[in-house]
Amino acid sequence: MKHARRLDNAPPYLFVEIEDSIKKAQAQGVDVINLAIGDPDLPTPPFIINRMVEALKDQKYHCYPEYDGCIEFRTAAANYYKRRFGVELDPETEVLTLLGAKEGIAHIFFALVNEGDFTLVPDPQYPVYKNATGLTGGVPYPMPLLSENAFLPDFSRIPKELLKRTKILFLNYPNNPTGAVADLGFYQKAVEFALEYDIVVCNDNAYSEFTWDGFRAPSILEVKGAMRTSIEFHTLSKSYNMTGWRIGYAAGNAEIISKLKKMKHNIDSGVFTAIQAAGIEALDNGDEFISGMRAVYALRREIAAKMLHEAGFEFEMPRGTFYIWFKVPDGLTSKGFSDELLKKTGVVVAPGSGYGEYGEGFCRISLTVSDVRLREAFTRILSIR
Ligand SMILES: Cc1ncc(COP(=O)(O)O)c(C=O)c1O
Repeated sequence: MKHARRLDNAPPYLFVEIEDSIKKAQAQGVDVINLAIGDPDLPTPPFIINRMVEALKDQKYHCYPEYDGCIEFRTAAANYYKRRFGVELDPETEVLTLLGAKEGIAHIFFALVNEGDFTLVPDPQYPVYKNATGLTGGVPYPMPLLSENAFLPDFSRIPKELLKRTKILFLNYPNNPTGAVADLGFYQKAVEFALEYDIVVCNDNAYSEFTWDGFRAPSILEVKGAMRTSIEFHTLSKSYNMTGWRIGYAAGNAEIISKLKKMKHNIDSGVFTAIQAAGIEALDNGDEFISGMRAVYALRREIAAKMLHEAGFEFEMPRGTFYIWFKVPDGLTSKGFSDELLKKTGVVVAPGSGYGEYGEGFCRISLTVSDVRLREAFTRILSIR
């Protein structure tokens, strides 16, 4: 069957491939331990579920939602930004409800990028930045995230002639997959760089609530000048164990938000308002719940780090996210190692090469399985090392 050329510009989505290999192994009776996907194993807390149940019974939520999200949800997001980051946002013009951050991240490329335009994307990276650029006909320029630069991009290495044709600089801290974090000094440099070359900065702050060893992730919107050129993506998926609910939001510069709105008006019809009602509950009353989740992941991080160390893997202790990015044994590729691990132990890890060229030689594990399964996974790994 004929298809649009643009589809050839995006490779098969990494996690769809991983899901397929898990299904195949399970069909053969393998007890798979999935350390690949960052999908919280613990349930959405009852106070959020109860609000949803109540909302479901109310007929006012049964119609089409408002396109940009109900003002109450956007106000809750603005209040959260004020409380958490000290950033003032106008909920009417500077906040937009999304069907999960992934949806908004993909659509921002369609709103801003013309065929042949460049985007600056981290490498390794959450695959949507590069793939969505490809789908628009744009050209992703990978910014290597190297361990010697604390996994931060070096803007001075980007060719100047390319910057005139660059539309978006995409950042993601706390970083998936490396677990690196960025401070306000870095964001200030990014914003100054973007203002100089008239580039929009998008920061994906999906993991803002999961940082370790005393570090607290800032928002890019805190820095001087950011509101002139930046938006930030946020999700309720990770902070409140709500990956299946599909709700997030974009916040920042009103003009960029208005372009994303226009794109979305022609594609989707908003987030089910009952889910937004539950989202308000999460944003207004979820701080204590997040602290509890932080403690859960902190413990698992200790367990996994100790066992990775025992198994002889090289890695840096992540300062953010619920992932650990580790080097595969010498002589093996990321994919070779992850395939072999699944075959021999039933443990699935995400191959770093799926996150970009500079991810080769690494794999990522996620701390979103119970302590018991995490220990079991490493017992199996140790048995073949
Ligand atoms: C860096 C990053 N951004 C965005 C998302 C997607 O979040 P959502 O569930 O809100 O679409 C993920 C999910 O894994 C992620 O790792």
